[in-house]
Amino acid sequence: MHDLDWKERYAIGHPLIDNEHKHLFEIAMKAFKPVAPELRKEKIKDAIVELKEYMKIHFKHEESFMRVIEYPNTNQHINIHQIIIDNMKVMLNKLPNSNIKEFEKDLAYFIESSLISHIIDEDRKIQKWYENKKGQRYIIHWQNEYLVGHKEIDDEHQFLFHISNEAFVLSEKDNSSKEKIKEIVMKLSLYIKQHFEHEENYMREIKYPHLMHHHEMHENIINEMNSFLKKIINMDTVAFEFELAIFIEKWLVQHIIYEDRKIKEFIKGEDIKIINIEGL
Ligand SMILES: [Fe+2]
Ligand SMILES: [Fe+2]
Ligand SMILES: [Fe+2]
Ligand SMILES: [Fe+2]
Repeated sequence: MHDLDWKERYAIGHPLIDNEHKHLFEIAMKAFKPVAPELRKEKIKDAIVELKEYMKIHFKHEESFMRVIEYPNTNQHINIHQIIIDNMKVMLNKLPNSNIKEFEKDLAYFIESSLISHIIDEDRKIQKWYENKKGQRYIIHWQNEYLVGHKEIDDEHQFLFHISNEAFVLSEKDNSSKEKIKEIVMKLSLYIKQHFEHEENYMREIKYPHLMHHHEMHENIINEMNSFLKKIINMDTVAFEFELAIFIEKWLVQHIIYEDRKIKEFIKGEDIKIINIEGL
């Protein structure tokens, strides 16, 4: 059997990433647990599927973290993640017609190169970069390309960035109390709720066709925020910074970039229609 025990030397020094990596090892181990020969392929398949799904979640977290800390090789690292997922899909397709002994060898090789070596060679570089980045490690920068073209909404989005940065700065100060940090995250959460209301009102005004779907996404963000708020008190500072960074990147920045900007596209589409009608 392949040695899949987690070793301390695999740790990159980041509590949350290390925990996720450990869990990946636990899942991988399932593929090599002895079972009756006729159940072998089924068992391996289940383990690879589970590994693939958890890897996707882990990669998302890791990629958010890279973006927030402005890790310079983010795109290259994302490509490697994509290759790992693609390789797993290829393996899953090959499994039904493979000789099981050969397949196990391939799988062991895959785990060695895509799990262990990737963590040691690639993921560790992210942590090194983060450690060398002195002060204001998570500050997020507003870009004009995030504008949706509505003054009030754009101002609110920029203010959300501002409060997020305040939370990061506070969490980096050694003497910041948990209560203070919680206070600022509560402020962020309150402001997010207000902003969602304004945004949805505006969507109603312009008869935005995807309002329902967008509203569901907002609800989702509020739920995530609430469960994050509940966890803060029991988190150490590093875990808090990391989770807050993921929350902000995933729920705030990506939502603004990918979802709120569709409002702008909708408005633009309307403009085209009006011009067309006038042109008739
Ligand atoms: Fe990675
Ligand atoms: Fe990783
Ligand atoms: Fe939104
Ligand atoms: Fe928004």
